[in-house]
Amino acid sequence: MPTKQVRLADLQAKKRDRTPWAMLTAYDYSTARAFSQAGIEVLLVGDSAANVVYGYPSTQQVSLEEMCFLAAGVVRGAGNSFVIADLPFGTYEASDEAAVSSATEMLRRSGAHAVKIEGGQRMAPRIAALKQAGLVVCAHVGFTPQSVNTLSGFRVQGRGDSGAQALLSDVSAVVEAGADLVVLEMVPADVARQVTERFPIPTVGIGAGPHCDAQVLVWHDMVAFPQDGHRPRFAKQWAQVGADLVGAASAFKREVAEGSFPAEEHSF
Ligand code: KIV
Repeated sequence: MPTKQVRLADLQAKKRDRTPWAMLTAYDYSTARAFSQAGIEVLLVGDSAANVVYGYPSTQQVSLEEMCFLAAGVVRGAGNSFVIADLPFGTYEASDEAAVSSATEMLRRSGAHAVKIEGGQRMAPRIAALKQAGLVVCAHVGFTPQSVNTLSGFRVQGRGDSGAQALLSDVSAVVEAGADLVVLEMVPADVARQVTERFPIPTVGIGAGPHCDAQVLVWHDMVAFPQDGHRPRFAKQWAQVGADLVGAASAFKREVAEGSFPAEEHSF
């Protein structure tokens, strides 16, 4: 586990030193503990929980209430890792007041260290309001899943000269508004490189190539869980948790059926 509490200043120092760091999603106490024990610097209570925890078809359906409970469990297991919690769809877009109220409720109830909101130029006023309220803010640009319908599906963003220009303008706006970190999702590697070199805040890539200051993945994607789940091209699998879990559950069922579990050593 990180030997001391990871803070924003540590992530900023890593950018200056060009030391890449890692972020993983976590949605509960036990996975937070495991990832903290592995030394993962930052845990993200992503609204991808909508899909992988709650089984909703889109991240637009998860509520602040549902996210707060998950975030509180993650913080209890996070050890010295820094915890960022997503503000879900519909809880911050309408006004600065809504953004500050949702963010403070999330941080008060969970103990997370920072919030993340999606959107570039159009969300810059919200980021400024959150900074004014004294919060650490992570922006999220490029492909933003809460806007999947506006973006016409899961598409790489920032392609071509005008796409790259739009992405750079988005990052410029969130930096200007005071964002402390920025997630770049599904953008060409060269555009992510330009952003990382040009702007002073740490960039966290997901499907954004190797030049970002940090990398983030949804943990289910990096361990093939569930066994028959969708695998985004940008994710690599370091374990087969879905297959192992099906195997373990099948073995349990078989041994219960044949009467070989519990054995003497499992009985009192
Ligand atoms: O919700 C999430 O898991 C995220 C990551 C994809 C960055 O926002």
